[in-house]
Amino acid sequence: MSGKRSVTVTLDGSNKSTSLPLMSGTLGPDVFDIRKIYNDLGVFTFDPGYGSTASCDSRITFIDGDEGILLYRGYPIEQLAEQSNFLEVCYLLLNGELPNAAEAKEFELGVMRHTMLHEQLRTFYNGFRRDAHPMAVMCGVVGALSAFYHDSLDVHDPESRRISAFRLIAKVPTIAAWAHKYAVGQPFIYPRNDLSYAENFLHMFHAVPAEDYKMNPVLAKAMDLIMILHADHEQNASTSTVRLAGSTGANPFACIAAGIASLWGPSHGGANEAVLKMLADIGHVKNVPAFLEDVKDRNNHAKLMGFGHRVYKNYDPRAKIIQKACHDVLNELGIKDDPLLDLAMELEKIALNDKYFVDRKLYPNVDFYSGIILKAMGFPTSMFTALFAVSRTVGWVSQWKEMMEDPQQRIGRPRQIYIGAPRRDYVPASKRG
Ligand code: SDX
Repeated sequence: MSGKRSVTVTLDGSNKSTSLPLMSGTLGPDVFDIRKIYNDLGVFTFDPGYGSTASCDSRITFIDGDEGILLYRGYPIEQLAEQSNFLEVCYLLLNGELPNAAEAKEFELGVMRHTMLHEQLRTFYNGFRRDAHPMAVMCGVVGALSAFYHDSLDVHDPESRRISAFRLIAKVPTIAAWAHKYAVGQPFIYPRNDLSYAENFLHMFHAVPAEDYKMNPVLAKAMDLIMILHADHEQNASTSTVRLAGSTGANPFACIAAGIASLWGPSHGGANEAVLKMLADIGHVKNVPAFLEDVKDRNNHAKLMGFGHRVYKNYDPRAKIIQKACHDVLNELGIKDDPLLDLAMELEKIALNDKYFVDRKLYPNVDFYSGIILKAMGFPTSMFTALFAVSRTVGWVSQWKEMMEDPQQRIGRPRQIYIGAPRRDYVPASKRG
């Protein structure tokens, strides 16, 4: 980045002013470097929700919200979805370049050799109720990994970071699949390193010891595609959570557990589960107009889940790809008319022609169709966000690694504008009103 231009800020009524350099990245808006504004002017900037704030520089993912563009290390998501596979995308996000054949093979071996969990972690599941939400289990078990892998907790050692990255990317699918098996009372299925990453996950999730599991290549490809689409997304809430946790020097397992917790919210990764609940509540196309009136009613807190995005003010490119994959999966499964997909498409059509949504540039995001395809693939709704977490782990780890490798890295510590009570003296209970 080279910063030639600047802006001068002068405080009205004072002789204080400062010159803020304007920095340009490879793509996207320029940024004002405000790091010296407090020292020079004695003021903070104010941006709750960080709508206008760049928290870091990064080489990993670029989003153009107005154009609906998503690039992983410069490669368009549409091309990666069409031509790549999830493990290759993991290599790309972590290392910055697509692997050659030898690098891809070595990376695949590196990941697949870490898919098993310490046997004692099996008993860890017994502490949960069978009806625990899978995301509660994921938070607990991923956080507990730091109790088992003391040999890779030195965040300042590149080799420890490399092993932790492999362990997290490899073990999170096993942890998620076992959360489901525990919930339904079926035995845990061990990982199979002869399968692809997506096949291995489907096998651990759906297989039972009583019979051979027949892998459906169309569903395996759809699983791999869904993982690619959810792998990373710039500085979203959960990634920012991972970066902030990591900035204190916390170990990577604790940081990813924090990311999982943040992703769980219905405004973020929990939206895919909320979309299915919303569609079930609407029930039929004839109820769509009344539902949308509720959404537009300021006194109501109903949201059109799976719509809207802080960055995308155009169609989320991932939603377009998933919608197409929906049709492929439903055709493969012989589901001619999926009422949920029909309802979702009708809801989208009506909303995209409604002034409320058009004025606010609210379009379908990645979560609008993902639940439909996951439900068709036999995943319970409660597992949707856990699947998002499995896919996003590589993005979280890549962003954490990038931050830890940054020589300028320092602890993240935002400030505030204080609007509470001025200084006042303590009042003894006997003298209070
Ligand atoms: C993900 O950040 C990422 O990159 C996230 C993600 C990733 O890959 O990591 O892309 C994944 O989290 C996708 C988003 C999933 N969430 C949902 O689908 C939940 C529904 N969406 C909304 O809650 C909302 O759109 C957010 C949270 C996604 C974005 O919120 P913003 O940017 O703070 O927008 P806003 O709340 O300021 O909304 C602006 C206006 C408001 O109306 P007014 O006050 O101007 O009248 O749009 C309205 C909002 O009420 N609005 C909606 C709406 N989303 C925004 N109205 C109805 N339904 C919605 N879904």
